Amino acid sequence: MAISPLAAESQAIAAEFDFGTEGVRKAVKHFVRQFDDGLTKDGDTMIPSYVTALPDGSEKGICLAVDIGGTNLRVCSVELYGDRTFTIKQNKTTIPHNIRVGSTAQDLFGFIAEQVEIFLRDNYGSSVQRAQTLSKSDHLPLGFTFSFTFHQTAINRGTLIRWDKGFDVPDVVGKDVIVLLQDEINRRKLPVRVTALANDTVGTLMTRSYTSPGGHECILGAVFGTGTNGAYVEKSSNFERLGCKKSPSGKMMVNTEWCSIDDELVVLSKNSYDDEIDKTSTNPGFTMFEKQVSGYYLGELFRLALLDLLDRTNLQGSLAALRPDSVLLRSSGIETATLSAIEGDLDPSLGATRQCLHKQLGVLHATTELAEAVKIIVHAIGLRAARLSGVAIAAVVLKSKCLAQADSHFDIGLEGSLVEYYPGFEHHIRGVLREIPEIGLQGEERIHMGLAKDGSGVGAALIAMVADKEKGETSKCERMPALLEL
Ligand code: BGC
Repeated sequence: MAISPLAAESQAIAAEFDFGTEGVRKAVKHFVRQFDDGLTKDGDTMIPSYVTALPDGSEKGICLAVDIGGTNLRVCSVELYGDRTFTIKQNKTTIPHNIRVGSTAQDLFGFIAEQVEIFLRDNYGSSVQRAQTLSKSDHLPLGFTFSFTFHQTAINRGTLIRWDKGFDVPDVVGKDVIVLLQDEINRRKLPVRVTALANDTVGTLMTRSYTSPGGHECILGAVFGTGTNGAYVEKSSNFERLGCKKSPSGKMMVNTEWCSIDDELVVLSKNSYDDEIDKTSTNPGFTMFEKQVSGYYLGELFRLALLDLLDRTNLQGSLAALRPDSVLLRSSGIETATLSAIEGDLDPSLGATRQCLHKQLGVLHATTELAEAVKIIVHAIGLRAARLSGVAIAAVVLKSKCLAQADSHFDIGLEGSLVEYYPGFEHHIRGVLREIPEIGLQGEERIHMGLAKDGSGVGAALIAMVADKEKGETSKCERMPALLEL
């Protein structure tokens, strides 16, 4: 039966996102090679986190944390009860566009410090004023989760290499972000000391290790949200060349920065939509993997592909079929949540998809046929993102050689809107694991995955605590409740 031009064009567009088994296997091998390579040289991937021990669930205490990595800033206080459970109090604020782009270090870090001040005053009120009289060494500890590419040189030192995910504050590049934050905190005379710096993936790894219900060894913390990245457990001896001392555990959590693992496009391929995304991004030529995988870009990929579909099929005069205020006419106007809703629409009449097209995307004639075509495109974009995510995860599984330990089961901590809300995301990741001959069905069944909810915030608190514990000191975090009860 002949298919309609709309169906044919949508299938042609979807085919540009195909990523089959052969491509997956080649990509996994390349990722493992790049991981090995990154461990031998100073680059912007495979960065030591200076976190050398995983929590075991018995950690106790309360600690402040700041988490920045996407459009939102979170300030929290995390209380760990020592029995794999925790509670978190948090304030979430949207970082205004004029602070994220084109501002100065002082504007950005001043904004963060101001949010810390608001959080402390809202939650701890007058005890904060009294705490201002404390000596510096008794100031409240704060773990800082900073989810951008930075060179870490100590648990509390890190210099920004470059921005991504739409951030661009040029004078922060090359500077120590802990110093920038501490300066602004001091300017506001807050009794707070930034004691630990972490990438969100290291926080996710720590959080999953703390909470993991089955108690299986956690081998990876992975984020699939606004951006994407993973952190896993490496031998600390691999970092002695950087002057890192051998840790008592012999381990070092490494931040892979896999978002940039194939910027040379050896195994990734770029279609015309990927090309457009890259050209118009704030970091052309960088984070090419992330630009095909993460939530910051999927909505825009969809927007470009849908405009192309309307154009190719000249649907009722194409652009004339859109409301003038349609988000399809505005770059970065579509959120990944829209794709999740369309992917999750399983009703044969595609009512939810038609409603999305009409209400959210401003398409005037949202017919069932158009909805079917749109669903094909959405599925292709999400499927490629999930399969690529599977590549990065499979590469870490192989690199860790964990499956060589007969019969053991392992855990992976996941965070981010795609793993939390995108229908079928983990299912497709698992499909990729099974396609890798060294993992297969048997290996895939030994890998558990679970959300490390609030991983970035809780992780920063855990890092501050585990770091103190390794040094054999009473954790500053354990002393914090006393400070707040002054
Ligand atoms: C950053 C990583 C971060 C990831 C997930 C990427 O854009 O470079 O450092 O871990 O996003 O938030």
